[in-house]
Amino acid sequence: MTPQPRPAGTAIVLDGVSKHYGEVRALDGVSFSVAQGEFFGVLGPNGAGKTTLVEIVEGMRKADGGTVTVFGMSPWPRNTALLRRIGVQTQTSAFFTRLTAWEHLETVAALHGADRDAARHALELVGLGGKERSRVDDLSGGQRQRLALATALVHQPDLIFLDEPTAALDPEARRSLWAVLRELRGEGRTIVYTTHYLDEAEALCDRVAIIAGGKVVALDSPGALIRSMAAPARLLIPADRITVEQARALDGAERVLVEGGEVVIETRHANRVLVEAAALVDMDAIQTRTATLEDAYLRLTATPPPAAAEERPTAPTAAAGTEHRR
Ligand SMILES: Nc1ncnc2c1ncn2[C@@H]1O[C@H](COP(=O)(O)OP(=O)(O)O)[C@@H](O)[C@H]1O
Ligand SMILES: [Mg+2]
Repeated sequence: MTPQPRPAGTAIVLDGVSKHYGEVRALDGVSFSVAQGEFFGVLGPNGAGKTTLVEIVEGMRKADGGTVTVFGMSPWPRNTALLRRIGVQTQTSAFFTRLTAWEHLETVAALHGADRDAARHALELVGLGGKERSRVDDLSGGQRQRLALATALVHQPDLIFLDEPTAALDPEARRSLWAVLRELRGEGRTIVYTTHYLDEAEALCDRVAIIAGGKVVALDSPGALIRSMAAPARLLIPADRITVEQARALDGAERVLVEGGEVVIETRHANRVLVEAAALVDMDAIQTRTATLEDAYLRLTATPPPAAAEERPTAPTAAAGTEHRR
């Protein structure tokens, strides 16, 4: 497939969407929009409301309040014009388990009014070209997950929903699924992707909405979220190469700790500190650890601490090392 330019326009608009299950407020005033061609992540801990959210957008559940439009149409009540344009991989995918992978996909294609070429293309796209004669029952977990993806794609939808597609996969299967997802994005399709794996969101998503307790607590590109948390980078230098006093004297060093055999310099100006440190220490001895989406996520989804606990130091490492404030 040749990469296509990203299509213009808006795929999804949510405005004040809410949903209750009895006493449980699963979604509480969720608003955001997703551009066409965007790889959009929905992140949040278990029970945050991710599945509820995507199923409302898919038209599988009805919101109690607010409005949802998908390609300018309401997904509820069920809208067949829309169903043709969306592909859904649910958390528990249903298969025709007694069929072979190929028979399964051909059947799904037929149900969608798509042809055998479409089934062939989907099977190859997910890397199951060699497994077409295997029975669905005999596929490994990762292969089934990829077949589920092929099932969601077979009719070449413009908008694809994937609800924790890598939840049960080993690292290798996860990486190979990522490659498929990048390819789909390259084809200009819009992808809505729920996960609780942060590395995944960081590696794949253009933007992520972090939801916790049914509300959007942050929405931005992974890079911007990481920057907005203003978590400092950490430079690690073996303690036999530099003294704490020397480290503290470096321009841009905000905090200096000793952890194990390392002098740890926290800074929001890693480049400046690196240049200075390199005058004292061989560059190869310096390790850099930058902030990750995980830092941002943990802070955003943390349950608010009781008032008395608010004085705790924010850096979890402060307790582990000897602290030397400038
Ligand atoms: N069909 C349902 N009936 C009652 N409660 C539900 C139902 N589906 C989800 N919930 C509740 O709504 C909240 C959000 O669930 P869900 O959307 O599945 O979250 P996530 O996918 O982020 O784990 C949870 O508290 C869950 O127990
Ligand atoms: Mg879920």
